[in-house]
Amino acid sequence: MVFALYLLSINPEVQKKAQMHVDGVLESDDPTYKDFEALSYIQNIVRETLRLYPVAVGILRELKQDYQVGGYSLPEGSLMMFLWKEYTRSKDLFEKPDDFIPERFEDEKNQHLIPLRSPSFGIGNRSCIGKKFAMIETTLALAMLLKRYNVKLSNPNYKLSTKVLVTLQPEEEPLVNFEPRQRT
Ligand code: HEM
Repeated sequence: MVFALYLLSINPEVQKKAQMHVDGVLESDDPTYKDFEALSYIQNIVRETLRLYPVAVGILRELKQDYQVGGYSLPEGSLMMFLWKEYTRSKDLFEKPDDFIPERFEDEKNQHLIPLRSPSFGIGNRSCIGKKFAMIETTLALAMLLKRYNVKLSNPNYKLSTKVLVTLQPEEEPLVNFEPRQRT
């Protein structure tokens, strides 16, 4: 959530679009699963945030057989860590890979990436069992916040840098102001 709030703060046009989307979907303060399904733009904000800042930085696999990769011979039983950053910020797979563009997941030409579009949850049979729950919870929480508040960095000069402590975290937490929105 902290990464999403940071990205929305520094991309006010995405924030505005997200608020208009939420205003058109959320009618009550007690959102339902139907609301979650309808909040496609907010879901894409969560996906795009996890692409740029994959909180689970990678996955670990044990090789069932000998394997050759990048000129290395790895024996059966080796542990391999696959780090998302190399994939999720790849110029070959994503246009402007460092930019925050939730719309990229609506694009037909990115449909082949769908099985991998939230790689932060893992891939294959052992992928995250809580993925759907995490997506619902984050999407609805973000939507409820955006319905009520504009988010802005307290320090406009703040620049995010990250560290890995089991999960990906900001070196220094960004302070975000929540300014009540004017209701029209
Ligand atoms: C943003 C939130 C979350 C992220 C980024 C995340 C990420 C991950 C990742 C990367 C894996 C390893 C997948 C693999 O090896 O392919 C995993 C496994 C797992 N996650 Fe999550 N997770 C999240 C939330 C949750 C929640 C809310 C729950 C439970 C309610 C949960 C339960 C699990 C369990 C039980 C596994 C092990 C699955 C297995 O080994 O078969 N996760 N998660």
